[in-house]
Amino acid sequence: MKIRNRMKLEFMSCSENVGLARVAVAAFASGVDFNLSDLEEIKVAVSEAVSNAIIHGYEGAATGVVTLSALLSDGSLEIEVEDAGQGIADLEQAMLPGNGSDPERLGLGFVFMKSFMDDVDVWTEVGRGTRVKLIKSFPVSENSGKTAEN
Ligand SMILES: Nc1ncnc2c1ncn2[C@@H]1O[C@H](COP(=O)(O)OP(=O)(O)OP(=O)(O)O)[C@@H](O)[C@H]1O
Ligand SMILES: [Mg+2]
Repeated sequence: MKIRNRMKLEFMSCSENVGLARVAVAAFASGVDFNLSDLEEIKVAVSEAVSNAIIHGYEGAATGVVTLSALLSDGSLEIEVEDAGQGIADLEQAMLPGNGSDPERLGLGFVFMKSFMDDVDVWTEVGRGTRVKLIKSFPVSENSGKTAEN
């Protein structure tokens, strides 16, 4: 697997940074042959994962650290959103639609992530934190990744 680009961004767990994460990932992915609706879906998935880290992982406290990393290889974009918050006790349950811990919320974040991305992989441990990996593939065109020569 040839790595074409990678990035890592660390920010505090305040809600303003959901927008920062969206913009950063959109900019990172903009060099790839994703169409506009793919890009929109990636942004929604990232927003959901980052919101979860802030709202649930750190229970709304703005003092936690969220790490967003992204890796671009031939044909796929891999994004990781990680928090060192409370973790998820029953992941299988938490991923079902409408099964969140907060009755005021729809409980659809994971559902959106799974429907918008090709693969969603979650590592979590109570008291340690949560890491959500989001993968989306894209068609590789012949000259993608090459820069124009004059
Ligand atoms: N990073 C996280 N840390 C701790 N718990 C989490 C984390 N992400 C998700 N969860 C748990 O998983 C549940 C389901 O998450 P999901 O995003 O699907 O729904 P929600 O956040 O409750 O509602 P919505 O995303 O629709 O506002 C959450 O209610 C929460 O209990
Ligand atoms: Mg959510």
